[in-house]
Amino acid sequence: MAIRMNGKSLLSINDLSEEEIWQIFDLTKVLKQKLYAGEEHHYLKGKTLGMIFAKPSTRTRVSFEVGIYQLGGIGFYYGPNDLQLKKSENISDTAKVLSRYHSGIMIRTFAHQDVVDLATYGSIPIINGLTDLLHPCQVLTDLFTILEKKRTLKGLKLAYLGDGNNMAHSLLHGCSKVGMDISIASPQGYEPLPEIVNNAKRNAAISGSKIEIIQDPFEAVKNADIIYTDVWASMGQEKEAEERKKLFKDFQVNNKLVAEAKSDYLFMHCLPAHRGDEVTDEVADSANSVIFDEAENRLHVQKAIMTLLMQ
Ligand code: CP
Ligand code: NVA
Repeated sequence: MAIRMNGKSLLSINDLSEEEIWQIFDLTKVLKQKLYAGEEHHYLKGKTLGMIFAKPSTRTRVSFEVGIYQLGGIGFYYGPNDLQLKKSENISDTAKVLSRYHSGIMIRTFAHQDVVDLATYGSIPIINGLTDLLHPCQVLTDLFTILEKKRTLKGLKLAYLGDGNNMAHSLLHGCSKVGMDISIASPQGYEPLPEIVNNAKRNAAISGSKIEIIQDPFEAVKNADIIYTDVWASMGQEKEAEERKKLFKDFQVNNKLVAEAKSDYLFMHCLPAHRGDEVTDEVADSANSVIFDEAENRLHVQKAIMTLLMQ
């Protein structure tokens, strides 16, 4: 097993080389097979993962907690009110203290800079479990799921409809790293950040993928191999939810829209889904939908990430 990622952190897909991304996928395949075969794979025996959550979570929390256990280690959950972090203690001190107890930390929070600071001041691997800016573990899982279903990544077209949020940003990083085309359609004023689009364009110049940021959802899904969407109001934006419902209504993934994609397109969503808003039941529950395989793969991909970083 390759160990060159050992001791590193995973804050953004943009920090990974294409080779490292494929290393994660190769190990994911092995770990998934071992779990299915009932073979022990205690690569992190005796290791501990601190899991800091400033926001709620179903998939991230459960898949990391179950994953570290299956690897022979144990996870410790710290909810929004459990640590002194950012209340009576700064990030630097918390990072140094937690580094004395844990083998790695997974953190879900608001400001991306907090995760960068944790990695700067801590001396153990830090894994980004979602910030307002990025959701790298989700997108690495999405790419692995596409690979399982389509047997390739290069040259495929992914259409993302909706908010230019953390999901859109990590999809831009991920697709551009592995040579997939990505077309993002968002309402005016809700496009992905220019800085992230520029990162993706730089990656695309190397990988040969195409990046498109537009406002027409029908144009975006034309000939798409994958249609991806996410909630219109993310965690922390609850107060904007009603206003966003009106602004985003033409970006709903429904039967009329998906008719523009390839007939064997995959429907993907990081979940949780607000059914009836960004996606209809008929699409989310259709034969093209892989949302639950995607959710399951969080477990397998993150086990590979933890093993590569923390072993
Ligand atoms: N997709 C995802 O990260 O889900 P949770 O918010 O439930 O962790
Ligand atoms: N954009 C969503 C993703 C949830 C997994 C959010 O940040 O709430």
